[in-house]
Amino acid sequence: MVSRKLFSRHSLGGQLLPNRVVMAPMNRNRATDWQLAPRAITAKYYAQRASAGLIVAEGTPVSPQARGCARTPGIYSVAQVAGWRKVTKAVHHAGGRIYLQLWHVGRVGHCSLRVDGSPPVGPTGIGVRHDRVPILNGGSEPVMAPCDAPRGLATEEVRLIVDDFVRAARNAMAAGFDGVEIHAANGYLFDQFRCPYINDRADEYGGSIANRWRFLLETVQAVAAAIGGARVGVRISPLGTAHEMLPDPDPLVNYGYLASRLQRLGIGHLHVYDQEGSWIHDRQGELLPHLRGCFSGTIILCGGFDRERAEAALRAGHGDLIAFGKHFIANPDLVQRLRSGAPLARWNSTTIYKGGAKGYIDYPALDEADAKVA
Ligand SMILES: Cc1cc2nc3c(=O)[nH]c(=O)nc-3n(C[C@H](O)[C@H](O)[C@H](O)COP(=O)(O)O)c2cc1C
Repeated sequence: MVSRKLFSRHSLGGQLLPNRVVMAPMNRNRATDWQLAPRAITAKYYAQRASAGLIVAEGTPVSPQARGCARTPGIYSVAQVAGWRKVTKAVHHAGGRIYLQLWHVGRVGHCSLRVDGSPPVGPTGIGVRHDRVPILNGGSEPVMAPCDAPRGLATEEVRLIVDDFVRAARNAMAAGFDGVEIHAANGYLFDQFRCPYINDRADEYGGSIANRWRFLLETVQAVAAAIGGARVGVRISPLGTAHEMLPDPDPLVNYGYLASRLQRLGIGHLHVYDQEGSWIHDRQGELLPHLRGCFSGTIILCGGFDRERAEAALRAGHGDLIAFGKHFIANPDLVQRLRSGAPLARWNSTTIYKGGAKGYIDYPALDEADAKVA
């Protein structure tokens, strides 16, 4: 007999989610070229997936400086806010709830992604050695290019980025989002400041763990003051090595510290992503119970989940909500399929980051697929 916790309700940020299935943030690079605003197909894409308990919409640059990929829609201009407003309206109309993930890529970037050709920025001038990012090199489709060398941020510039996040969060609320998630995972800007191998700054943003988390915590505090802490979440990837991060030397201490501080700031959720899709499913592991002990708000778990693993994680009490990524690409009605045990469709890897409507809004829901067969 299948336990039904995944389909029970949960309260987050003053809203009642009808189930515990979260659509994980996933960049799909479908924005307009000039305004970098979401298009009508993006409204349709998210509305098709509105039966999720919560959608966390894709990582969205908070400023031109924050960009790391071609065609990612931003949240720093009037046109972008107007584009996102159509998305949130469509999702709400379809009965859903949607947060926006706020993103700064830091050193994982390329000069061609900015009109002024300025280089990416990071905690220091230490760049990535092998990673590549999608850029528009004069062609109609993005091509992968090595990252350009970053410029280390001055202390005053760090504080200006805090302001960018506050502006972006306000814009997100003006665009009708139900909340925001600050992207502190996957080797991007906040993760770079956390990482002792990259961050050798001599100011108050480098050195001790308190100093290396300071930038993120100041940002969270400022965003919470602007829009209310209950509607703010933070995403982390504690054992992650994406974008040339080295494994954290002491994740229990470092992420425990962060989780306790986030608890004090009274934010709504902590989103924990396991890039390997393995440690988060280890019932004997110490990290998740430790985070749970430090943070009493909502915990979202993500990475390699299927229905059985999701139910097991919820039963173990390690998290409150389960985020699914890739399965949501090809299964707009994922909640219904998980509930009924129906087979899951497979995503087409060639259209994940390009293809316009193809591979984006043309995956059928089960009843549509059945209707086509009949
Ligand atoms: C196409 C794609 C784009 C992604 N973009 C983001 C993103 O914008 N922000 C983020 O935090 N994670 C991003 N991720 C990671 C997913 O949110 C998720 O953590 C990952 O796919 C693991 O979950 P899964 O095993 O259920 O797919 C992306 C993953 C994919 C496949």
